[in-house]
Amino acid sequence: MTTPKGIILAGGAGTRLYPVTAVASKQLQPVYDKPMIYYTLASLMLAGIREVLIISTPHDLPRFESLLGDGSRWGMRLVYQAQPKPEGIAQAFLLAETFLAGAGALLILGDNLFYGKMHLDALVREFTEGAVIFGYPVRDPENYGVVEFAPDGRVLSLEEKPAKPKSQCAIPGLYLYDHHVVAMTKRLKPSARGELEITDLNRLYLQADKLRVVRLGRGIAWLDTGSPANLLEASMFIHTIEARQGFKIACPEEIAWRRGFITDDQFKTLIASIPKSSYREYLERLTRDEA
Ligand code: G1P
Repeated sequence: MTTPKGIILAGGAGTRLYPVTAVASKQLQPVYDKPMIYYTLASLMLAGIREVLIISTPHDLPRFESLLGDGSRWGMRLVYQAQPKPEGIAQAFLLAETFLAGAGALLILGDNLFYGKMHLDALVREFTEGAVIFGYPVRDPENYGVVEFAPDGRVLSLEEKPAKPKSQCAIPGLYLYDHHVVAMTKRLKPSARGELEITDLNRLYLQADKLRVVRLGRGIAWLDTGSPANLLEASMFIHTIEARQGFKIACPEEIAWRRGFITDDQFKTLIASIPKSSYREYLERLTRDEA
């Protein structure tokens, strides 16, 4: 199977963060020292994915494009697609049909922040068919998609924001699908709220016995960014780790360089194009320390 392509879904009005989101969408807001979308882009880069479609509202899409460009400076190919109406997460695959051109997809929701060794590169490399989603223990599963397991580990059910969750295991916004994903999505009917639900898509894969749920351990942080307090906590989390270790989390320039998406020379040219800032100093320090 060819390498799956990446999709970042960065739509939504972000009304819960008003007035912060009155002029720029949630995924453009800072999480400590970087725009939120950097973290999701970094997750895809760490998964070894170099072609990414960014989907957002017609209003916000140009801002993402001016922030991230065509991706070439990071050895990536970034493509943009408007979602005129927010008609569900799974709609992303219909919008992405041309971009995917028969490849599978790793979809990440633009407000889902992950930190920790998730071994996404191996997962993507070894992926052949079906779908892979994740399970993560939370205290408020009713706010998420929820997966229920049998004692032997089989998946019994998937439910979207159930009033009475059957487990504590929430499904984060990171999903890996094979090349059937567009055809599978075309079989979905809009839900009561008029959306193509990602949980319904996952259920189709489950019914076909093609769904795997990877349980994320307690060593992984999956951070919420839904409320002003969550956003502050996420920023403090990133700041705490970065200040302690002296490394930046989700720095696309660094990942591109370390993963060999760009050469040493390209990295240096890239650094020279960045305004004088602590961000630039960090990258300069990397080239000195690891020369
Ligand atoms: C969506 C999905 C839900 C998932 C969540 C992860 O919900 O519908 O299954 O658990 O993302 O962030 P939303 O938060 O967009 O309502």
